Amino acid sequence: MRCVVLPEIGTFEGWRDEARALLAEGVPPEEVLWQRGAGEADLFAGAPAAAPAQGGAVTVPRGFVDLARLAVCHADPERFARLYALLWALGRDRRLLEDRADPRVDRLERMAKEVRRDRHKMTAFVRFRELGDADGGRRRFAAWFEPSHHILELTAPFFVRRFGDMDWSILTPDLSAHFEGGTLRFGAAAARPDLPEDAAEDLWRTYFRNIFNPARVKLKAMQAEMPKKYWRNMPETALIPEMVASAQARAREMAAATPTVAPLRAERIGERLRAARVPEPGDDLAAGLAACRRCPLWENATQPVAGEGPLDAPLMIVGEQPGDLEDLEGRPFVGPAGQLFDEVAARAGLDRARAYVTNAVKHFKFAARGKRRIHQSPTQGEIQHCRWWLDLERAQVKPRLILAMGATALDSLTGDRRGLLTRRGGVEQTAEGTPVLVTVHPSYLLRLPATERAPAEAAFEADLRRAAEMLGQ
Ligand code: URA
Repeated sequence: MRCVVLPEIGTFEGWRDEARALLAEGVPPEEVLWQRGAGEADLFAGAPAAAPAQGGAVTVPRGFVDLARLAVCHADPERFARLYALLWALGRDRRLLEDRADPRVDRLERMAKEVRRDRHKMTAFVRFRELGDADGGRRRFAAWFEPSHHILELTAPFFVRRFGDMDWSILTPDLSAHFEGGTLRFGAAAARPDLPEDAAEDLWRTYFRNIFNPARVKLKAMQAEMPKKYWRNMPETALIPEMVASAQARAREMAAATPTVAPLRAERIGERLRAARVPEPGDDLAAGLAACRRCPLWENATQPVAGEGPLDAPLMIVGEQPGDLEDLEGRPFVGPAGQLFDEVAARAGLDRARAYVTNAVKHFKFAARGKRRIHQSPTQGEIQHCRWWLDLERAQVKPRLILAMGATALDSLTGDRRGLLTRRGGVEQTAEGTPVLVTVHPSYLLRLPATERAPAEAAFEADLRRAAEMLGQ
């Protein structure tokens, strides 16, 4: 049995080098014990030490490196072994990584997702306290943070970019990060320090008091987004109990204080919305869309493009907006992106005819260049205005699963604007709880250079296959 002890700082690089050497030697996963840090290593005192890493020429799919970099940070003690087992299996089947139904891949992807979520929490919830000027006159700050996973090394560069003009330390029960005079270094774990309150705390409290809307208190959603374990290090959270307790009374005050005569603009909007009849199941959505003036995109487009497909489809496929051909034909996904989608869907066993296919935005947005119409991305406002129609389509079709193709669809369906590529392959939810499988837009594949197209298309195919499997097709 090999016992590999990985460093606590530079754990990913350590794991990568060791894994490379073990693989080159042909050491199977069941013969390796992994641990991080000397403390853990004591558990295995007496076991023969691992051979020093030498790094053979091992090539792996790019996706594996990205996955490993995240999964290595997970708190699961089995993470190194799981990664090595997958790496070993990839040597026999390089396409394994695309198989999301494989339990090894699935488990590691879920771990990577948990790590990403933990990093997101860290970037949002670290609160620095000012300590006073450092020797060079730079302001000095420190923060205490308790992540759920070993994410400090991976996440510290975010704080370097954000707070590059000050010196700071982030202390955690695992490692500490210190940024001094423009240099980042990592040190040992720290105990929770007694940090002074500073002027910034008042600013946080004022900010929080201002963004807190008493008429929209949703405790569960708030705690899901900002779990209680982070509260004690965040100055503004001290206000939560009092603000929640007084929310109903404040909301009543707000309602009583609303002006009784609506401004002209609000009246006009009200009239327009009252005139619009809410479509019912079976209604012709296209007719309602033809009259839509919710945003100016209707002015230059040939026609709106409504979704098409069975109204009881178990799957809804959502793209961005109609392209040039879709705008002329009045049907979604009939142009080059649609053709690529059809080809890949056929390979993945996904039957488009049984799905309801639509877009987040229903009019083609373009800039005219001579005779050509060049696609332009919709703005946040346009996506929001058109969400009205997508919501109606969702209410009519009630799909069991939605496939979000691209960032616009994902934004419209989840309201979450974080980058697409880190979320692709995952399953998220609409506000009502409908699962949303995240994938790229076929136009993105069409724009890739030839060398990158094949793996990206294979990953897209794997996502479509997963959609088919989730629906039992
Ligand atoms: N791109 C989309 O997002 N939708 C279409 O209908 C066509 C291209």
